[in-house]
Amino acid sequence: MVVYNSPKRTRNVKAKWNKVYNKQSNRKRVLVMRIPDDPIVSTALSIKKHITKQLTYLDIGCGDGFYAVQLTKKGFNSTGMDISEVAIRRARRFAKKNNVYVNFIVGNALRKTIKGQFDLVASNFVLQLVKESYKRKFIENMMSHTAPGGYNVIIFHTQHRPRINSKTGQGEDISGFQKKLADFYVKKGWSVKKHKIGFSGKNYVGYSVHWEYIVAQNR
Ligand SMILES: C[S@@+](CC[C@H](N)C(=O)[O-])C[C@H]1O[C@@H](n2cnc3c(N)ncnc32)[C@H](O)[C@@H]1O
Repeated sequence: MVVYNSPKRTRNVKAKWNKVYNKQSNRKRVLVMRIPDDPIVSTALSIKKHITKQLTYLDIGCGDGFYAVQLTKKGFNSTGMDISEVAIRRARRFAKKNNVYVNFIVGNALRKTIKGQFDLVASNFVLQLVKESYKRKFIENMMSHTAPGGYNVIIFHTQHRPRINSKTGQGEDISGFQKKLADFYVKKGWSVKKHKIGFSGKNYVGYSVHWEYIVAQNR
């Protein structure tokens, strides 16, 4: 059952996700869903190509830490935030196992938990859990934590069902088709680099996953 997020429903959401993570054995990881292209990793690598300073990464709803650990290994100074303390415990263990340090924090993405701005702020399969009326707030929070010139990557389950290319598993590019999310970024003065939709077969609990993602830059 989906327990939708709002700034006030922290307790229910926490309980739901703690239960999910508690069910997993400690050795068996992870709950992460990765989509073709892996836009979080590919955006990180493309930023690294152009910038030589120490880069920073913020993962909203980081779960058991997959992306925060991967990006730390690629040279980013990373912070991971999740509402579930069980997820954060698992994430800390995962970072230790990989010999990296990540600043993992328990917090609600709809509240102001985190300070500072980051070069890359990403969220993998969290937005669909947020109550419709708070989606804008979720995205605005991500934007407010993004440094000038930095990027947002948001990946989420989508309601849209475009034609899928059977070879690539990807749908048509949705610029000009489903523009609401992209328009939101553009209106705020950001530039939208990619906005795609696709289908990845079944996820770890057997659901079919229609995904959508956006990559946008804070110009
Ligand atoms: C489908 S899981 C994805 C986890 C992680 N991003 C990954 O790819 O492995 C959704 C995650 O969002 C977290 N979450 C849900 N609502 C949240 C909120 N309001 N603030 C922070 N994290 C939240 C859950 O605890 C869970 O870890």
